[in-house]
Amino acid sequence: MSTLAYQFEEITARELKPALFELDGISREAVEAHYKLYQGYVAKRNEILGKLASVDLSSANQVYSELRGLKVELSFAIGGIKNHEIYFEHLGGDGGDPNGAAATLIKRDFGSIADWRADLKATGLAGRGWAWTAYDWDEGRLFNYIGDTQNTFPIWNATPLVALDVYEHAYFLDYGTDRASYIDAFFGNLDWTTVNDWVARYQVPTK
Ligand SMILES: [Fe+2]
Repeated sequence: MSTLAYQFEEITARELKPALFELDGISREAVEAHYKLYQGYVAKRNEILGKLASVDLSSANQVYSELRGLKVELSFAIGGIKNHEIYFEHLGGDGGDPNGAAATLIKRDFGSIADWRADLKATGLAGRGWAWTAYDWDEGRLFNYIGDTQNTFPIWNATPLVALDVYEHAYFLDYGTDRASYIDAFFGNLDWTTVNDWVARYQVPTK
């Protein structure tokens, strides 16, 4: 038996903007390899949801069960999709300092753009997979959160506005083990117009 919740639409990977193939300091080769991983998360999300439709609910078990395995890895697949859709969407710009609402929020909550950048870079060096600048709707402020994998450690009721991928696959082709230089390149390719569009769409309050 399965529930109505296990009915789903298959999704397809979003296409990359042409600008993603012309980043400054992040090669086309690295982006194309990275995109293949993203396509893999989409495929696995569809596959897992398909399998959940016929899962045996009566055998659910916290040590091991099919239901547990599928649901744990579904969170990894969905995390991989959401993280990378943010990542790819907000690259392809000219970097530099933000303007508009993003600048207002960052200055208010970090003190300065430089302080935000230094903290996000350090958070990216301290993480094993991700660092996110997110707006926590309960605290009413931005914070740079750390993630080790696609599904660790998201904060409930927080909206990510910047997603810095620090998995080795994001930079090893271009920088070897020099993650710090990759993070600098990431900042140099941020598209602040996209971030400001999200701030407006989600109606993140700037006062
Ligand atoms: Fe990635």
